[in-house]
Amino acid sequence: MMHDDLKKKVGWAALEYVMSGTIVGVGTGSTIAYFIDALASIKNEIIGTVSSSETSSARLQAYGIPVFDLNDVNILSLYVDGADEINNQLQMIKGGGAALTREKIIAAVSDCFVCVVDSSKQVNILGRVPLPVEVIPMARAYVSRQLVRLGGSPKYRQNVVTDNGNIILDVHHLNMSNPIQLEKAINALTGVVTVGLFANRGADVALIGTTHGVQVINKDPLVPNAITFL
Ligand code: 5RP
Repeated sequence: MMHDDLKKKVGWAALEYVMSGTIVGVGTGSTIAYFIDALASIKNEIIGTVSSSETSSARLQAYGIPVFDLNDVNILSLYVDGADEINNQLQMIKGGGAALTREKIIAAVSDCFVCVVDSSKQVNILGRVPLPVEVIPMARAYVSRQLVRLGGSPKYRQNVVTDNGNIILDVHHLNMSNPIQLEKAINALTGVVTVGLFANRGADVALIGTTHGVQVINKDPLVPNAITFL
């Protein structure tokens, strides 16, 4: 099965977590595009959404799904988003689509983060893909030097401006043996807006698209994990 089919399967599988009469947090990316398609099929059952990017907002609005300002939303029970990598502790690298800052804000507000990925994104240790860091443009060179001091090799993502008007550095070769500590260290650099390491607040549930079906991994050890065939 192609990656795209697996993405579609998990995008639709996430619908099971959507409760009627709620506002749903919506992430960004090609997997989430399928989730938005799925959400459109039950759009009259939800109040609306908050969105992590202009791209997702446009897709939601094209379906006639309301998109609210997060500042006007007090409770967000669910956030559904993809990832570039996810480990067994459900910590993630995100930001391939440059939407990491808004994604992290919505993840912080949400009670439950459901991550939807195809099985190629599963890793034992994070760091196979470079780590995106959103940076204030004037701090690009300074932050790059600091990232080198942390052991990384930053690369400026050409021709990309985030929805917040900033730039992205993709950092290779970082030691990811302690993702929570690394997240803290990079976030502490002056000029960094957000690092795309979601270790301190990881996902609560991962839906992994495999050729055998959708595997459900719960962070809470009391909830049984399962492979379901959807
Ligand atoms: C965007 C993200 C995406 O969730 C991540 O890049 C995965 O994207 P896709 O579903 O297209 O593989 O973090 O900033």
